[in-house]
Amino acid sequence: MCGIVGYIGKREALPILMDGLKRLEYRGYDSAGISVFSGGKVVTERAVGKVAELENKINGKKISGCIGIAHTRWATHGKPTEKNAHPHCDCQKNIFLVHNGIIENYKELKEDLEKAGHKFSSETDTEIVAHLIEEYEKQVPLKEAVWRTLAHISGTYGLAIVDQKNPGKIIIARNGSPLVLGVMEDGYIIASDIAPIVCYTDRVIYLDDGEMAELTDESHKITNFKRKKVEKEISKIDWSVEEAEKKGYPHFMLKEITEQPEAVENSIRGRLVAPEGIAKLGGLRDVAEKTRHLKRIVVVSCGTSYYAGLVGKYMLEEYAGIRTDVEHASEFRYRKPLLDENTAVVAISQSGETADTLAAIREAKNKGALTLGIVNVVGSTIARETDAGVYNHAGPEIGVASTKAFTSQLSILALLTLFLGRQREMSLVTGKRIAEELAEIPHLMRRILKKANDIKMIAEKYSEYSNFLYLGRKYNYPIAMEGALKIKEISYVHAEGYPFGEMKHGPIALIDKNFPTMAIATSDSVYEKTLSGIQEVKARSGKVIAIATKGDREIQKMVDDVIYIPKTLEMLTPLLSVIPLQLFAYYCAVSKGLDVDKPRNLAKSVTVE
Ligand code: AGP
Ligand code: GLU
Repeated sequence: MCGIVGYIGKREALPILMDGLKRLEYRGYDSAGISVFSGGKVVTERAVGKVAELENKINGKKISGCIGIAHTRWATHGKPTEKNAHPHCDCQKNIFLVHNGIIENYKELKEDLEKAGHKFSSETDTEIVAHLIEEYEKQVPLKEAVWRTLAHISGTYGLAIVDQKNPGKIIIARNGSPLVLGVMEDGYIIASDIAPIVCYTDRVIYLDDGEMAELTDESHKITNFKRKKVEKEISKIDWSVEEAEKKGYPHFMLKEITEQPEAVENSIRGRLVAPEGIAKLGGLRDVAEKTRHLKRIVVVSCGTSYYAGLVGKYMLEEYAGIRTDVEHASEFRYRKPLLDENTAVVAISQSGETADTLAAIREAKNKGALTLGIVNVVGSTIARETDAGVYNHAGPEIGVASTKAFTSQLSILALLTLFLGRQREMSLVTGKRIAEELAEIPHLMRRILKKANDIKMIAEKYSEYSNFLYLGRKYNYPIAMEGALKIKEISYVHAEGYPFGEMKHGPIALIDKNFPTMAIATSDSVYEKTLSGIQEVKARSGKVIAIATKGDREIQKMVDDVIYIPKTLEMLTPLLSVIPLQLFAYYCAVSKGLDVDKPRNLAKSVTVE
């Protein structure tokens, strides 16, 4: 969480920092702040709330200089107040720094520092870092003081530090939180992800854990904790600035919902060989012999990516015949997972930076399992740390509520099912059928999106209800949970996602005329059972909105409202049934006047535990 930006070079730093903060705001928006070297000293401004508040505060002030750092916060320690906003500084107000992550041993360190006479002005864990550097700097130069500080702190950090006594440089360091260094013609831009960097350069260096970089306006020197110089490769980014912008849509979320046909096209492009019924996954080429002998898959992921994994379980077990378990990454990391050499652990992550997922993958690696990644952000930590993997190529996802990354993940899971299935017993005929139907999905998605206005009207009709039940069976059970998550996240409406058959074991008690049900009732192998469930809801005066297959006239008589989606192969239905649920949540939130792209308390990538 939280976004860090920094600039050192020949240009004015402030506009670059402010622009960067806006692009990173989706990562956290509790408060924002900047520190710029201006007129020989470090000028700091901080404000509670969104970046616009900070902008108002500094408007008209003369802050001019070519070196600066900035932060948009997602609070972990201490309320979202101005005092707790970053940058934080030491007692002498020389060292200013921004931090992403959690310093786990901050309490002990704070006590020691207070005993040594340090005065703290915030409740954050971050502030101790500035005071520790101050303490060490009494004995050694800045860079060594930072190293000694890092040796004393435990937890996670992405840090950018400036020191008034050492003008002309920025020090950055990373452990567990992302930091990317953009190499410009005339300087450097640092950021938590590439969104602020793409506007200035396509050349980047990904810092690894345990590395520190010392930047001046014309050079960078990267060292590891052994104080040894590290030569790093400069990578090229392939996302364009336009891709990361709103393109006239009122919200990123709507833009990204609408982009799903292209996102899926990009995910399957060049990978699907329909006539042969196979998937070519370049990223798995080197491990193809190992995947042939896999007996079990364990998916680790969080939130929406977790629900994608659950759909994957149904696909992989039904069509590839591989036992698949799906685990919340946050639970996996603290359990005693039983893994062996025939198990692959697959991390699914849009950002590739989710702390829990990363920790789960590291645990799996320690246990000797093959680790694979399904990741959208190229060069992200999970992508780099897994043994092999498949990129989504869905383009940047900025809206906090994940949409196009989800359907893209589902399409990759379908490709993986083909890939692994055809390594096993899946017939050519079945492979061809899946491949052909998958290739059709973008086209079917466009048909649903054309009906967005009908879904809007239904959403407006139901937007005042404060509770919902989302029900689905088999492939659509994870979609019920994803639909419920979407409406919780952006509309702040309480919603329970449940397997339809479980309703009668408890949630049915909630149903009355004020507790509507969203029932996913597509014409598939469990259709009849689903209809019985709908009858049970109706018998208790519950209102029902159904997601049904086009042509199903019967259901219309039973329910209050229907949203139709086209027919496809049962295993691919989730790629379609989720779209009305995304739009429903979106339009509910819009009709309530909520900030769809920046829902309260959330952040796009959760890089803290
Ligand atoms: C989705 O709408 C969420 N905001 C969230 O659950 C997200 O899917 C989760 O944090 C996982 O993120 P990742 O895919 O980047 O790892
Ligand atoms: N722990 C720090 C704070 O609470 C940084 C949080 C973050 O990474 O968003 O301010």
